[in-house]
Amino acid sequence: MRLGVNIDHIATLREARKTFEPDPIKGALIAIEAGADQITLHLREDRRHIQDEDLFRLKCELKDMTTPINLEMAPTEEMLNTALDVLPNTVTLVPEKRQEITTESGLDVVSLRRHLRKYIKPLKDAGIRVSLFIDPEESQIDASVEVGVDAVELHTGEYANAYGSNLEKELNRLRRSARYGRRVGLEVFAGHGLNYQNVKAVASIKEIQELNIGHSIIANSIYWGLYEAVRRMKEIIQEAYRCAE
Ligand code: PXP
Repeated sequence: MRLGVNIDHIATLREARKTFEPDPIKGALIAIEAGADQITLHLREDRRHIQDEDLFRLKCELKDMTTPINLEMAPTEEMLNTALDVLPNTVTLVPEKRQEITTESGLDVVSLRRHLRKYIKPLKDAGIRVSLFIDPEESQIDASVEVGVDAVELHTGEYANAYGSNLEKELNRLRRSARYGRRVGLEVFAGHGLNYQNVKAVASIKEIQELNIGHSIIANSIYWGLYEAVRRMKEIIQEAYRCAE
């Protein structure tokens, strides 16, 4: 199972002072050294953390490395043009609301099919793998197949917020969706709200091929340093994955 490290919140800290540090690209290089299999970043319409320049710099810094870039973006003309300019390895299309603190739900692919197709085709024609960030539901997976994407990223936010009997219910939703997604031929990823405690159960789902994790890794890097925060997350994921039936 691959670990994509989301570097947005390194930039959040930088933007708090509108200065040059901490530098998310330097963070990306440390994360790779510590075992990150991918660097994920979200270029938001309001540029609240990652800036266009970060994306271009990341592309240049990684040009001689095999580590892929996963660009999270809203399905808009502006973002499409940026993606076609930068050519990341993967684009993950996400819903975006100006007022939200973080991405609140998955894309409603069922009702946005026509709109999404407009963005998926040019991205795929440019050789970019396209993934959709969706809630773990069969109907969303079916619609994702229909619009011709390569992958889905299952939103783990509901699972991360659940407790008591709901926790097992949400975990089962993820298990069922991961199995279903693979059966219908998609690559299956997951992410959002995962941390050092709750990641184990998700990493035990064999059908999930990649986890994208940001906030908890960056938060804990304040105590442990970024290298150690990534290393520990990778270790937990690998152990859980190995021990899963
Ligand atoms: N995956 C997607 C599609 C996201 O939008 C985010 C948040 O930017 C993440 C994963 C990472 O979530 P978190 O920061 O809660 O680990």
